[in-house]
This record gives sequence, structure tokens and C-alpha cells, in this order.
Amino acid sequence: MQVGAGGMGRAWLRTVAAEPDAELVGLVDLDVDVARTALADAGIEGVLVGANVTEVAAAAGADAVIDVTVPAAHLTVNTEALAAGLPVLCEKPAAPTVADALRQAAAAEMHGRLLMISQSRRYYAALDALRAEVAGLGAVGTVVTEFYKAPRFGGFREEMDHVLLVDMAIHAFDAARSVIGAEPVSVYCDEHNPSWSWYRGAANAHAVFTFSGGERYVYTGSWCAPGLETSWNGSWRVSAERGSATWDGAGRVAVETATGLREREIAGAPKEEIAASLAEFLACLRAGDEPTGAARRNVHSLAMVEAAVISAETGRSVMLDEVFETALARAVDTEPDASVRAILQQWTTLGGVPESTPHPIER
Ligand SMILES: NC(=O)c1ccc[n+]([C@@H]2O[C@H](COP(=O)([O-])OP(=O)(O)OC[C@H]3O[C@@H](n4cnc5c(N)ncnc54)[C@H](O)[C@@H]3O)[C@@H](O)[C@H]2O)c1
Repeated sequence: MQVGAGGMGRAWLRTVAAEPDAELVGLVDLDVDVARTALADAGIEGVLVGANVTEVAAAAGADAVIDVTVPAAHLTVNTEALAAGLPVLCEKPAAPTVADALRQAAAAEMHGRLLMISQSRRYYAALDALRAEVAGLGAVGTVVTEFYKAPRFGGFREEMDHVLLVDMAIHAFDAARSVIGAEPVSVYCDEHNPSWSWYRGAANAHAVFTFSGGERYVYTGSWCAPGLETSWNGSWRVSAERGSATWDGAGRVAVETATGLREREIAGAPKEEIAASLAEFLACLRAGDEPTGAARRNVHSLAMVEAAVISAETGRSVMLDEVFETALARAVDTEPDASVRAILQQWTTLGGVPESTPHPIER
């Protein structure tokens, strides 16, 4: 069953319809007319429509839920689905705050059901190729992402605070964890808004993260940078012990070591982005494996955003542990379910949750 039939919900409807291992049985939206129109526009019939997660799931006999609602609704929708015994695949970001992301991760643990956060920009054949090249280069020193684009969205993005960090950077931050194969420890971030910016909040951000193996991840980006724009994935460079690798964010991956330079154009896989995320969710449900985007592991990506925002606001370096500690305390304070609270109280640190390159996924 899918919850949320807005802009991204429409993309998910098409993706589920194209996935032979999944069948859509229900569609929930606060606005049932929005749900009906989205189904009609996609040419999908025979799907139960309603506004209540528990009721539609039970009536439709759903086995799993895909949550494509707005971030502020994720905690409510996800915990309701988990309480009904259903595993959930939820759009990024997990929640607006690390505290709420922790609460729903603990709820998933309490109910013994998978909650996976879909970070669609870690699923590209070319990014797989970059990760494979990096594995052969020895210790990683520095990873750099340059993200320079000039979209004119109109609407809420042009009014929000920290627009680049909060609305976009999580994609690159999450992919960086998968490229480095370690977890972030601290960040210093500088934000500014150029004089010609059409955004109210800072459209430019430059962050330096330290990772657990001493690696540095440097993100530099702008959302008001006309000319020579990068791909939506940004341009990547990995500087490592035995050589360097680059990815243009589209299909081109290059690596240079002592044995020479190799450049390849990688064809897209049949399943990338949300289609590949859905495939990983289904494969993990079948095998009982934990996906790389399992809620408790994904929290590191959201914490990178929260830490970068705090750094930009205070002008100081921020430790990720500090973000987790504050978020855990807030999660315990605000969580009404005693069993979920008990799990949160056992989580003194998230540092023990390892990140690794994704399982090979059939695409
Ligand atoms: N992966 C990507 O590249 C990507 C791109 C765009 C959006 N997104 C994410 O997808 C999610 C949805 O974004 P969108 O642009 O489709 O938003 P949207 O506002 O267009 O649609 C959200 C829909 O959810 C419904 N909704 C809200 N609260 C609900 C609730 N409690 N129960 C049921 N329905 C509810 C709304 O009525 C609306 O129809 C967000 O988390 C967003 O960050 C991801």
C-alpha cells in the first residue's frame, strides 16, 4: 500500500506498477481526491483508496507500506504502519529531526518490522562502479562533491531556511557514507547567500566532515549557480592512497593509478533510483537482511544535515555524537510509548552501526 499521492507519490505509483514483484493494493492520502486523480492519471485500476492507514491496509490486505508523504508526516504514518505489523519503505528524509528519526527507528525495532529510508541517489550503476574503483585504491584520504545548479523552483524552497543543506545535501551526504565506507564524526560548515540569490535562505554551503577512519568529506554546493552546472548528483573526486577516481554524476567514471588512466562510460542499469530502492527493500524482506538504508543506519545521513546546520548557525565545528546525544534525549522526552522509550534509553551511541557498500542488488 502506498501513502501519499503528491508529486513524488506519482513517480512511486509508476515505479510500483513496473515492478513485477510488487502489486499495489491500496493508496492512502489525506486528500482522497488527490489519490483518485493520481491513480486515474497513471491508468491504474482496482486499488482501494482511503484516508486512514490502518483501515485501508487491513481492508486491502497489504503486506508492506511505501510512505511518500511530507517529511513532517513520516513519523505518524510509519509508526502507524509498523504497529499494524507492516514493514515500511519511506521516502527521504526520514523525518524533519534526528530525534523523530530515532523514535521511528526504535518503533521499528519494538515491532520487529523493517523500516527502510529510500535514499534514491545512492542507486546508480555508475556510482556502483565508482565504489568498486575506490575499493581498489587503498586508504581513502579525501572525497569531494561539487554541486552547482541554478533551478528556479518557486514555492516553499525559495522561502525556507538552510535550503540547500536541508532540501538537497542529504543525497550527497548519504552517498558519501557509502563511498567512504565509514561514518561521519564531526563537521565544520559555512553557509552564505550570494547577492543575486533568488532564495531567502542560504543557497550556498561548504562543509568539511571528518569520518571515523580520518577521511575527510568536502561538500561544496550552490543552488543559484548559473553556467557549467553539475549533474543533480554533483561531480565527485576521491583521492586515495594508490590513486584517484572521479565520477561526473552521470555515466563517466575515471580512475588513475601508477598503472595508468582508465575512463569508462557506464550505461544505466534497468533499475536505478527509486526502482532500485524498491528492489532492495523487497530483496531484504525476502532474505531477512538489513538494507543499507535501514532506519537506524540512515540516521547518520540525517545527522550530517543537522550537524552542518548547527555548525553554520554557530560558526563552530560540531561533533556528530553531540547531535545524537541531544536528539536521543529529546526523543526520550517526547516519545509517548513506554516500550519504544525503553529501546531509546538503551541507545547510548549509534557509532557502533557500521556502514558498508550496498549488497549486490539485482536490478
Ligand atoms: N528521492 C527524491 O529524489 C525525492 C524527490 C522529491 C520528493 N521526495 C520526497 O518525497 C516525499 C513527498 O514529497 P512530494 O514532493 O511528493 O510532496 P507533496 O506535498 O507533493 O505530496 C505529499 C502528499 O502526502 C499527503 N499527505 C501528507 N500528510 C499525510 C498523512 N499524514 N497521511 C496521508 N497522506 C498525507 C498530502 O496530501 C500530499 O498529497 C518527501 O519526503 C520528499 O522529500 C524525494
